[in-house]
Amino acid sequence: MDIQSVKVAYFSPTGTSKTVAQAVAQGIGLNNVEQIDITQPGARKQPLKVASNDLLVAAVPVYAGRVPGLLMGWLQSIEADNSPCVCIAVYGNREFDDALLELKETLEKQGCKAVAGAGYIGEHSFSAEDTPIAVSRPDEDDLKHAQAFGAKIKEKLDSLASADRIPALEVPGNHPYKEMVGGISADFIEVSEACTQCGICEDLCPTNAIDYENDVMVDVDSCIRCCACIKGCPENARSMKASKVKEIAKWLADNCKEPKQPVNFL
Ligand SMILES: Cc1cc2nc3c(=O)[nH]c(=O)nc-3n(C[C@H](O)[C@H](O)[C@H](O)COP(=O)(O)O)c2cc1C
Repeated sequence: MDIQSVKVAYFSPTGTSKTVAQAVAQGIGLNNVEQIDITQPGARKQPLKVASNDLLVAAVPVYAGRVPGLLMGWLQSIEADNSPCVCIAVYGNREFDDALLELKETLEKQGCKAVAGAGYIGEHSFSAEDTPIAVSRPDEDDLKHAQAFGAKIKEKLDSLASADRIPALEVPGNHPYKEMVGGISADFIEVSEACTQCGICEDLCPTNAIDYENDVMVDVDSCIRCCACIKGCPENARSMKASKVKEIAKWLADNCKEPKQPVNFL
């Protein structure tokens, strides 16, 4: 297949999905690469068109075994034209459950044809010093793996005459998808006196949940618990207070210690 350009799209509040997507794109090795970072709300208002000779590489973090719900509107506005796509679910060393299947099926409904899929491991959003979960993943080996995956995708595309020849891709997951979990309060962040009101957290927040005049205020109805504000604070002023989210973090740190390995579907 003649691929003219690669569109690398990612939602990545704490940066791991972005890092994996970029390593895969590097492995694909084409020169014409466009980055589409849909982490910020403004970017999710820009609709995406994917031509038949574009390759879409889409990476999302797994939230409760699913594609993060706030992405569905943007994903369902993609206009593709029998365009090949690569689906990547990045998860925090628990499981990716139905997220990869959901991403693949969502993109295929928009006119994409899945050529490859993958699950990669990223440091868990809830990971902290006292609750370490998949710390520093993706690591060097993960990124080598992701690049090699990219090279295999290129080989596969080169071996196909057209998108119509892409065989149906099987990825793990179940129907109906895992039920969305509700009822977990997003009132889980505390802000210490080290906060200088620099506004970095506000810029990092993917849902505009942090007050623009007072960085200490988080709108718990908009917060998606991505922890970008905690991890991105230059003063380490933000942390998890005793809460349901902190309990989940403790459970994950105790029960998801064994490092999982990336998986590819081609
Ligand atoms: C609300 C929420 C739910 C999550 N659910 C899962 C999950 O079901 N399984 C898992 O292994 N990791 C889960 N994670 C962890 C993220 O998938 C993981 O940390 C990912 O690397 C974050 O991507 P990012 O760095 O691109 O933001 C969850 C994280 C958040 C914030």
